[in-house]
Amino acid sequence: MEKEIDKMDKIISLAKRRGFIYPGSEIYGGLQNAWDFGPLGVEMKMNIKTEWWNRFVRSREDMIGIDTALIMNNKVWEASGHIAGFTDPLSECIKCRHRFRTDQLKSDKCPDCEGELLKSRQFNMMLKTYLGAAEDKASEVYFRPETAQGMFVNFNNVIDSLRMKLPFGIAQIGKAFRNEITPGNYIFRTREFEQMEIEYFIPVPKKDSNWEESFELWRVAMQEWIAHTGIKTSEIHELDVPKNELAHYSKKTIDFEYDFPFGRKELYGLAYRTDFDLKNHELKYRDSETSTEYYPHVIEPTFGVERTLLAAMCSAYTEEDAPTAEEGETDKRVVMKLPKWLAPVKVAILPLSKKEELSSIARKLAADLRKNFVVMYDETQSIGKRYRRQDEIGTPYCVTIDFDSVIDHKVTVRQRDTMRQERIGINALLDYLKINI
Ligand code: GAP
Repeated sequence: MEKEIDKMDKIISLAKRRGFIYPGSEIYGGLQNAWDFGPLGVEMKMNIKTEWWNRFVRSREDMIGIDTALIMNNKVWEASGHIAGFTDPLSECIKCRHRFRTDQLKSDKCPDCEGELLKSRQFNMMLKTYLGAAEDKASEVYFRPETAQGMFVNFNNVIDSLRMKLPFGIAQIGKAFRNEITPGNYIFRTREFEQMEIEYFIPVPKKDSNWEESFELWRVAMQEWIAHTGIKTSEIHELDVPKNELAHYSKKTIDFEYDFPFGRKELYGLAYRTDFDLKNHELKYRDSETSTEYYPHVIEPTFGVERTLLAAMCSAYTEEDAPTAEEGETDKRVVMKLPKWLAPVKVAILPLSKKEELSSIARKLAADLRKNFVVMYDETQSIGKRYRRQDEIGTPYCVTIDFDSVIDHKVTVRQRDTMRQERIGINALLDYLKINI
């Protein structure tokens, strides 16, 4: 465990130093558990969202995507059960006033000061704000705690505008907010985060249709996505959530848990929401073939963007011995072995000298490649150090321009994981990268 915590510290430090993740509001002392994504972090987040969208929305006939408002009519949250049921049990210490989730406490004394705890009460996790100029009860609204409801309330709109037939799914990527009692573990649990969610509508209770089949197909689709992100599948565990711990809308949920360095925790969820939501919003589906109307049931695969990023980084972070420029000597190499599609920078352009002769070729090459890939240009320090810098952020290809390049119009391409190098013609480089990335 100590080794694992050490690994987490290394990842946090690398992420800050290299521009993946910064502490939020840092220059003013930070804001509890708020994080900002730097230049490399934002590229990774965008890669995750685009890959997910292409896989689950654009490449499927039975899926469409939408993007709905963060703040919705309060009636949505009344109907969805969030006002009454989106709560966690909260215990507060009489002495230090610190608050804890009752279900996470190991004794009936305060874990911080051993003070007495007040009687546990239910705490609603929706984040409140005011809409408009008046800060009164009537203008109180909530930031959405899940993207799901935006998809449910637009069920009829989507059917009307795209003439979708069951079974089909609606997907959405966007921010969600929760007033978590105990945020923490770096970006694992925050009060503001992004979800990628699917509400898959199935024709239960139509004859010959059962939810188990659809649930199973989505379970496999989620497993395949996890493998695709490079998250180590040997570190994933599927937990059949006990009945007494199910969310208020769910009849069955599987949590995909990942062995984070700080423990085994939920990465994603797959829930059978029955007809709970459409029934509460009174949104029926009209089956034109049978001329019947009913409330479809819902299978919901849900994915956190930040948790994907964190688990992928934890799985990719590798330390290994690598040869140095000195014969027979090795040193430690940190490599972020991310899948190529997920790596924030795809190609590094590294001229061996800052001389105009090389930099003119290198800059032109970088400008050409930037039309297709995220490219980093680096001309400072030794080539060995520059390779290490790229390994650390997971760049799959380093391209070195040397004095021979001026004559033979070739460059050296080095692969991140194998460190294999090969000479490739400058004119052939774009095609080579397009095929390999
Ligand atoms: N619509 C269903 C739903 O919201 P959830 O299990 O509460 O289900 C879905 O959340 C996913 O959102 C989680 O599996 C996790 O990946 C992510 N998530 C939830 N709360 C989070 C938080 N406080 N910080 C970061 N990610 C969170």
